[in-house]
Amino acid sequence: MNELTIGKTTIVLLQGDITEQATDAIVNAANSSLMGGGGVDGAIHDAAGPSIHEECKKIISRIGKLEPGNAVITSAGNLNVKYIIHTVGPIWHGGRYNEAEILASAYRESLKLAIAYKIGSISFPSISTGAYRYPIDEAAMLAIKTVFDFTRENNTPLTEIYFVLYDAATYRAYSKALTEYSKNI
Ligand code: APR
Repeated sequence: MNELTIGKTTIVLLQGDITEQATDAIVNAANSSLMGGGGVDGAIHDAAGPSIHEECKKIISRIGKLEPGNAVITSAGNLNVKYIIHTVGPIWHGGRYNEAEILASAYRESLKLAIAYKIGSISFPSISTGAYRYPIDEAAMLAIKTVFDFTRENNTPLTEIYFVLYDAATYRAYSKALTEYSKNI
């Protein structure tokens, strides 16, 4: 399954590169320094250009560091979107260090910014499942459940939520999770 609508919000799963999305906002799986890195973070900073690095620097000089589970918003430089929402997922340490709650919070805090900035469409990567090593099947189910729960419980302007998944194995895990989720609603 690659699409599911609940209420006025549709979740769509895509395999691809998030820097090529044209939604109102994309979400970056950043680290606490907001100074860029590898993976999706590196790809977004490379494609967006240096102005984003400067904006991130200013945010960090104000807040110190971005704690895991929190999110901030910047403009989008050269990207074809209005905003980049930068969030930090948990590093997986075996599952007994609040990883699930922190990952859910990263999705929720990103969605709260979407409400505040009247964002109608947003693209998420698979937060924490690369360098941060969160097990993919658990992360996929948690992401889908958290996002749908949030849109049901809050009056959001969001009508389209994309998960843009880079590799086939990640795409398959999200597709399986969406199918499972749809059986229980
Ligand atoms: N578009 C979409 N997804 C991508 C892209 C891209 N262009 N590039 C990589 N990905 C995927 C990865 O394949 C993985 O499935 O994003 C997912 C998350 O992986 P990471 O980017 O490694 O993110 P995360 O696990 O949250 O680790 C964050 O990595 O680069 C650093 O600065 C970042 O330190 C932070 C850490």
